[in-house]
Amino acid sequence: MITAYDEPSARYVDAAGADIILVGDSLANVVLGQSDTLHVTVDQMCHHVRAVSTAKPKAHVVADMPWLSYHVSPSESVRNAGSLIRAGAQSVKLEGGHVRRDVVRALLDAEIPVMGHMGLTPQSVLAFGGFKVQGKTREAAKLLVEDALLLQQEGIYALVIEGVPSAVGTSMTEALDIPTIGIGAGPDTDGQVLVFHDLLGLTSRSPAKFVRQYADVGGVITTALSAFARDVRNGAFPNESETYTNPEELLN
Ligand code: KIV
Repeated sequence: MITAYDEPSARYVDAAGADIILVGDSLANVVLGQSDTLHVTVDQMCHHVRAVSTAKPKAHVVADMPWLSYHVSPSESVRNAGSLIRAGAQSVKLEGGHVRRDVVRALLDAEIPVMGHMGLTPQSVLAFGGFKVQGKTREAAKLLVEDALLLQQEGIYALVIEGVPSAVGTSMTEALDIPTIGIGAGPDTDGQVLVFHDLLGLTSRSPAKFVRQYADVGGVITTALSAFARDVRNGAFPNESETYTNPEELLN
């Protein structure tokens, strides 16, 4: 699974053969420049889901339900998830464990498939007192496994496990029948997910420990833009082949 937020990123992720495109609320960080994901709304998510879906990807498109879109009531959650589906998502993802039981049930009653997300859930940054690795004690790890089993029983179709020691990622994966997708959860989860901009070297923030940067696309962009600026300043752009020919009558 790889995130995407617009038509070009969705096209590239799809061409790379990813099984799932996540329109993540990491939109807030990597596209909108916010320091956390609490500042993104359902309308903003829908705007980007719509852009991703115009790429008509073969990959499954799952959209993050942003903070507060599923915390008030199950009925409000269904309406918000419905907006994401109408914008082009095929399922929604939400963060949290047993406290989300009623919401998961309501969404499934409305025929909306749900992916779970547990561990270092970024929407809990204030409650956690920062972006802190979760499940570090035997008791905390046990609660994560129990919560995962409970939401599996409710009917989530897959689970993202983020920011936990690898032994916890392994235990959760072994305990569940549904696929797990890890991000900072060690090598034993069924799948892995990374944020598009982190993977390609397009962010200014220092990457988390779990990020592997596969390219320096940011460096390529800066080199290309600088070359354009230089060519404009010294008159090298545009050249004759980049210029429309003047019709005879304009020259006389
Ligand atoms: O929003 C996001 O990009 C995510 C991934 C980090 C799993 O939820």
